[in-house]
Amino acid sequence: MNCPRLYDVADLPALEFDPFLRKSLQDAPVSRIRLPHGEGDCWLVTRYADVRFVTSDPRFSRDIVGLPIPKMTKHFIPLDRAVSFVDPPDHARVRAVVAPAFTQRNMERLRPQAQAILDRLVDRLLESGPPADLIHHVTSPFPLDVVSEVVGIPASDRGRVRDWAQTLLTRASDQAAAERARQVKEAARGYFRELAAQRRAEPRNDLMSAMVAAVGAGRIDDEELLALATLMGLNGWHAVRNNTSNMMYALLTRPRLMDRLRSEPQLVPQAVDELLRWIPHKHGVGQPRIATEDVEVGGVLIRKGEFVYVSYVTANWDEQVYPEPDRIDFDRKGPPHIAFGYGPHFCVGPLLARMESEVLLSTLVRRLPAMRLAVPQDQVRWQTDVLIRGPVDLPVAW
Ligand code: HEM
Repeated sequence: MNCPRLYDVADLPALEFDPFLRKSLQDAPVSRIRLPHGEGDCWLVTRYADVRFVTSDPRFSRDIVGLPIPKMTKHFIPLDRAVSFVDPPDHARVRAVVAPAFTQRNMERLRPQAQAILDRLVDRLLESGPPADLIHHVTSPFPLDVVSEVVGIPASDRGRVRDWAQTLLTRASDQAAAERARQVKEAARGYFRELAAQRRAEPRNDLMSAMVAAVGAGRIDDEELLALATLMGLNGWHAVRNNTSNMMYALLTRPRLMDRLRSEPQLVPQAVDELLRWIPHKHGVGQPRIATEDVEVGGVLIRKGEFVYVSYVTANWDEQVYPEPDRIDFDRKGPPHIAFGYGPHFCVGPLLARMESEVLLSTLVRRLPAMRLAVPQDQVRWQTDVLIRGPVDLPVAW
């Protein structure tokens, strides 16, 4: 059990569950693995209960920047001062600057604006087809426009932000790709520094202005602002672009489920929830934690100084918690899934991502009731070298 297995994260067909992760969950739920990059071995924790334990126990720290981390990617993706690498209690200080923007109340206020953005995009989709690419017309620009409105990224800059995310948020398996990612990270950092300066001179009613005010009040520093802005602007688009495209792929390839949503549109929120659980969103592993003491996890001793990765994807497919986990069941009962993480580093944007997904699904089933894939299922193209899985395009007809 302690002999590490190499997890050589490779591209997978469509939304097929990663066989390495599936085997780990079944046969070795807390196991030693080796990753393609970085140094040494680490732990992979896969069961629902164990993942919740590791992500909420303060003996597992995120203070890992600069350490020789075993990694899935050649490059280090987040900015060094990202909120992801701050431990409690300091972590709450940084998060508190942005978290209030993403409350249920604020998302309900934002919903009509999101609906208006989406309606315009669907109008254009209808004008340009059938067939037409649902991602190009809808599932990419929709979350880009919405998150940009929240953060305060002007319309003319959004294409750049999208392209940066596309280049940075990859596994970058060769040196040239890693170098491109490094350059893009610098470009994004410079861009958000400039945007912050504009908001400092002329504040508006957006999150960038709130972050600039927080710097002025000494609550965060400039580097923390830049890391927050990059994380929200780039990941906030990228995660929802892929997750909602995967939702649409899952529904378009399961007509029974799509029919049910058409006849019972009130089920959309629970369909979104179940799809979030089911979709193997993250490919491979995310950011690790380091044990600051010896800790037993699921009956296995993890020693002080060892790196630990959790998989939220496997936790959501743990059959002790979700019977027949591979079945998409809108009526599923059970504990909440952890697609948005768990513990202090729980995602900042779940209510935004849910609201966008609900608006999207309910609008598409209403306005395009006969929507179907315009190509055979096995001809849908999938992105390669990814951290977050998703199709390249989704040709649809109606
Ligand atoms: C379907 C869409 C999304 C999914 C599945 C998702 C999932 C996650 C996960 C799994 C984590 C990491 C938990 C950990 O480090 O242990 C995370 C962190 C984070 N997410 Fe999301 N996310 C989504 C959308 C968004 C959006 C729309 C935003 C903001 C605009 C956002 C902002 C963040 C931030 C700032 C963090 C870091 C939180 C921290 O370390 O305290 N995410 N997300």
